[in-house]
Amino acid sequence: MDATAITVTPVAGALGAYVAGVDLRDPLSNTQWDRIHRAFLDHHVLRFQAPGLSPGEQEAFARRFGPIVPYPFGAGIDGHPDVLEIRKSPTDKRNFGGIWHSDTSYLPVPPLATMLIAREVPPAGGDTMFLNTHLAYDGLSDGMKEMLDGLRAFNSSDKRYRTGSRAQQLAADTGTALKEPEPGVVTEAVHPVVRRHPETGHKSLYVNRAHTIHFDGWTEEESKPLLEYLFRHIERPEHQCRLAWDESTLIVWDNRSTQHFAIDDYAGETRVMHRVTIAGDVPA
Ligand code: SIN
Repeated sequence: MDATAITVTPVAGALGAYVAGVDLRDPLSNTQWDRIHRAFLDHHVLRFQAPGLSPGEQEAFARRFGPIVPYPFGAGIDGHPDVLEIRKSPTDKRNFGGIWHSDTSYLPVPPLATMLIAREVPPAGGDTMFLNTHLAYDGLSDGMKEMLDGLRAFNSSDKRYRTGSRAQQLAADTGTALKEPEPGVVTEAVHPVVRRHPETGHKSLYVNRAHTIHFDGWTEEESKPLLEYLFRHIERPEHQCRLAWDESTLIVWDNRSTQHFAIDDYAGETRVMHRVTIAGDVPA
């Protein structure tokens, strides 16, 4: 199929689009890739149907965006060490990704994008919400933008897990196979509060509820009111869209311009995703 068969249909005013007319099991032509890449930059979150896509084919599609990088706390599936299985079984208490966040903003070089394919879905529920952090920045007053422009913030993987390491906590009550990071992998980082998208030049707010702890040079107590204001502003409904999963739905999102939240509303059911992340650059 050629690129003219590809359709891109926005799902909300803020972000997100359905993409159809392409079989992701086949290698993409350059014109097909250009169309998908343009849609990715314009809509930030793309939803495909990809029936029969194998883990190897998911990795091949991910590599069109850039090199694959492992999740620091994840043990991959058999034969595909960089494909993390996110499994929530009927008895699991913890919901992976159930808080607004940008993926692994605690890494010195966070990922460009994350790609998830649904392998098993509950009969209803288990949607994922996304939001557009460019819109969040654009909606601030000039005075607030000026103040934030020079600020940096400290991000850590341990923000919500102060009673033990993140891997220990997660391993205790989830089916997702997690582990301690490899020696030398740092899971704390200071990043600009306002970052510029390296491909579009558009500015966005880069703090998130899951991982950002304080502004650089400020105490946690001093940082809390302004961070809480920014989180609530970023999470406003008009910055969001919500996407549902069928078996074989594949969603890829731009971590440089979005946050997401996995909704835990399917008690007693199973949800299984295969997740791949793509290497990014140092936020600037
Ligand atoms: C994640 O935060 O990477 C998982 C999102 C989801 O399972 O919907």
